[in-house]
Order: sequence, then structure tokens, then C-alpha cells
Amino acid sequence: MIFQAFFDCMNFTSWLLLGFVLLILNDVIRNRRPRNFPPGPWAVPLLGNVFTGVDYKTMHELAQKYGPVFSLRRGSERMVFVAGYKMVKEALVSQLDSFVDRPIVPLFHVTFKGIGIALSNGYLWKKQRKFANTHLRYFGEGQKSLEKYIEVECNFLCEAFKEEQGRPFNPHYIVTNAVGNIISSVVFGHRFEYTDPSFRKILELDNDAVVLAGSAQTQLYDAFPGLMKYLPGPHQTVLANYREIVAFLNREIEKHQEEWNPDDPRDFTDAYLSEMEKKKEDPRAGFNIETLLVSTLDLIEAGTETASTTLRWALVFMMNYPEIQEKVQAEIDRVVGQSRLPTLADRPNLPYTDAVIHETQRVGNIVPLGFPKMASKDSTLGGYFIPKGTAITTILSSVLFDKNEWETPDVFNPEHFLDSEGKFRRRDAFLPFSAGKRVCIGEPLAKMELFLFLVSLLQRFTLTPVPGEMPSLEGVMGFIYSPEEFRMLAVPR
Ligand code: HEM
Repeated sequence: MIFQAFFDCMNFTSWLLLGFVLLILNDVIRNRRPRNFPPGPWAVPLLGNVFTGVDYKTMHELAQKYGPVFSLRRGSERMVFVAGYKMVKEALVSQLDSFVDRPIVPLFHVTFKGIGIALSNGYLWKKQRKFANTHLRYFGEGQKSLEKYIEVECNFLCEAFKEEQGRPFNPHYIVTNAVGNIISSVVFGHRFEYTDPSFRKILELDNDAVVLAGSAQTQLYDAFPGLMKYLPGPHQTVLANYREIVAFLNREIEKHQEEWNPDDPRDFTDAYLSEMEKKKEDPRAGFNIETLLVSTLDLIEAGTETASTTLRWALVFMMNYPEIQEKVQAEIDRVVGQSRLPTLADRPNLPYTDAVIHETQRVGNIVPLGFPKMASKDSTLGGYFIPKGTAITTILSSVLFDKNEWETPDVFNPEHFLDSEGKFRRRDAFLPFSAGKRVCIGEPLAKMELFLFLVSLLQRFTLTPVPGEMPSLEGVMGFIYSPEEFRMLAVPR
């Protein structure tokens, strides 16, 4: 009887309302905040905090309000954020085994498939990372050494700057091509001319993908991949760009397979093909063509946009702070002079220049949110409980600008890296490459590149802004924080 009366008084609107209330109730029950979970802003039912921008400045504000460990919800997924040197160090270094794994990021998973180096986990990750690390170290000495590759490329880069004959030009793709050539030499054994349209296209596709991957719409894809994959938007561009990049890498790998001579490994790809033979009995280690493809993508992607963006920030800072540029040039003139090219052996004798490069990395802040991670086991951080499997972001920008660590955090100040006698001094809170088990494997290579490229350029050119076009110190937020496009003048010295 009661049911009959209930059904009789329900019309279409009432059913709709009831359905909605049940949906919300289900969401509230299913997505209850776990006990003692890090605090965070109120989450809209069903959607979570999708309207809170995940850019580093918003993250700094949330850390001010909720403390160094806080959380957000995206759809039904909870994410923890860690801010400030002390807590980031606690998460990455003191609790070395707690936050090692990568979560599945749907937008990247389509291409990277959880294999390779940067977005894989467990046994496969350990084996692939170790192999890549050994290979990068093997290139430490001799004619095929990384330093030699960079020295050769420095000449090409300076020639390209010279060809501009002091006229205004945008250095973006010359610099990216130069940096990309180093990693291409390591991975594929050859470089590409700056005029090669095929490589230029790949660099542009990659740059666009990295910028778009940080946009709000692509973040919506990660919250609702099942729905978003049918809708148009920048996430479709990211996916299409990766398809083209993968096809390009595939062609390189196929050529290597045809020419492969196990007695004469020329590069990373040749060495990997040999490793595939050796590791046939260990399929869990994942040494196969599919993983090779993703590992080369990892190295090219992680090794190009990062170092190239840092170098472009260096150009921007040198133009904005001409007095600092003059001091660097004076030091280079004194130590290296004009009659020979700089080498890595000069680095200890160029403390001011080294400090400027470190400060460029600090203020350039190119990977503000690091790479995403996941709790590998139930953990406690800052007194809060973080269940296994929770996505966790260590906010590297909050370390690089930590008020408790830096004398003048918001000012470009090379003195941060100099002691009272003008000698270079290391700083604990200098973590642009992150820390712990997932620390960047390209750190030594990137440091060589930044030093040799910048010193070679400043030895030969004075970098000045085009009149009325001072490059902005405000960057563009994507997955990487990069300078706005700018033009400049490179005046031969
Ligand atoms: C200025 C240049 C660079 C910066 C600022 C940078 C920064 C980073 C950061 C923040 C991470 C994430 C670490 C973490 O998850 O905790 C990372 C990972 C990585 N980087 Fe770099 N990187 C740079 C250059 C390079 C270069 C030149 C290479 C190539 C050899 C490279 C290869 C990688 C790889 C493969 C990973 C993933 C490591 C893993 O997941 O185990 N990076 N990098």
C-alpha cells in the first residue's frame, strides 16, 4: 500500500530529483575521506576539485592554507601534495621506499603504456632504468664521450647564432635542436641538421604536447578518460602528436634492426638490441622492441624539452640582468679566454658562472610539480595517513622558492650559490632534478649541457633584447614551465 502511494505521487521531475540525490549519496559514501587523510578544500560532489587549477602558484596558496601535506580530489581519485624542502625531503629521501611508483596518468598511458623508464614500475622499471643509467655512464670517456658530442654541438649552435648576423631572431628551435641532437647522438648515434624539417617537426610536436599536457582540459581527460576520449580538445592533439613522434622513433629503430652488428654497438639502440638477446630468459625485465620504443621516447622527451627550456630561461635572465651577464663574460675571459673553447675542466674555475647556471635552474623552475608518484605502500607523512596507491605530487617549486631555505627566494640572485670568498657552494634545497630513487637519470648530462652551451655562447656573443621587446620573466605553464616565445639579438664579441 505504502509503495503504491509512493509510486502514484512520483512524477518525472520527482524521479529525476530522487535519482540525483541517490547519485550524490553514493558519491559521498564511496568517496569518504580516509581517516587521518591530509586536509584539503571542499570537493564538489561527483566532480571533486576539478575547478581548482593544478598549477604551482595555486599549490603554494593551498600549502599556506592547509599545511605542507594536503589533498585534492579529482573525480573519485584522491591526490596528495607535498610542499616545502623539509617535507619533500622526508617523502623522497627519508622514506626512500614509500613513494617510488608512478600512478597511471590516463593521457600518457595511451602512449607510454606503463613500460619504459619514466612511467613504469617494479622489476621492469628497475631493469630498464639500470640499463639506461649504465649506458649513459659508458659514454663518459673517449672520442664518443658525452662531452665530445656536446663540444661538437656547441660549435653548430654558435655558428647558427652567428648566421643571424646580429639581426632579431627567435632562438627556440635552434636551441631545442642543439639539445635534442645530444640525446639523439646517444640514442640513435647521429645528429640532425638544424634545417632538417623532419626533426624540427618532431621537436615542435613534442613541445606542443608538453605545453598542452598541463592545460586544464587535458587534466579533465585524466579525471574522466572514458568520456573525454570521445570529445574534441587539446587532449586529442597531445595523443595525435605522440602518435607521430612514435612513428618517427619506430623508423629509426627499424633502421637499427636492419644494420645491427652486435660486435660494433654504435649507440643506446644497438646496445639495447644486444640486451634483448641476453635477457630472453627474463621476460619480466621487458627487454623487447615495444619497451625500446617507449624508453627512447622517454630519453628524447625527458632529455630535450627540459634542458632546452632551461637554456632558454638562461638567455632570458642574461638579457634581463645585463650586469650579471657582464660578470659571467668577465670570468670566462679571465679563465678560458678567446683563443680556445671551454671544456668541463674549466667548471671548477668558473664559480660565478656555475652559480648563475644553478640560479637559472632554481628560478627557471621548469618542472614545478615534478613527475607524479604514487604511494607504494601504506605510509605516514607529516602525521597524516596515506594509503597505498594514492597519487602523490612533490611540489619542487615549493622547495626551490622555500622561504626557510633561500635568503632572497623571489630574486634572481647567483649569490645563493656562492660563499663569502666567492667559491661555489652547494645548497640542499637545490632539487630541480628531484631526489630519491626516481631522481632524474639525466642530471649529469644536463649539467654538462647547460655549462658547455651557455659558456660557449657567452664566450662568443653578447645577448641583448630587441629594443622594446624585453623577454618576460613570467613563464607559460604546461607540464613544463617555459619562457614565453621571444626574439633576441646575439652580437658577436
Ligand atoms: C635541466 C634538465 C633536466 C631537468 C630539470 C630534469 C628534471 C627531472 C625531474 C624533476 C624528474 C622526475 C624525478 C622524480 O620523479 O622524482 C626527471 C626524471 C627523469 N629524467 Fe630528467 N631532467 C632534466 C634532464 C634530463 C635529461 C638530459 C635526460 C636524459 C638522459 C633525462 C631523463 C630523465 C628520465 C628518464 C627520468 C625518469 C626517471 C625515472 O622515472 O626513474 N632528464 N627529470
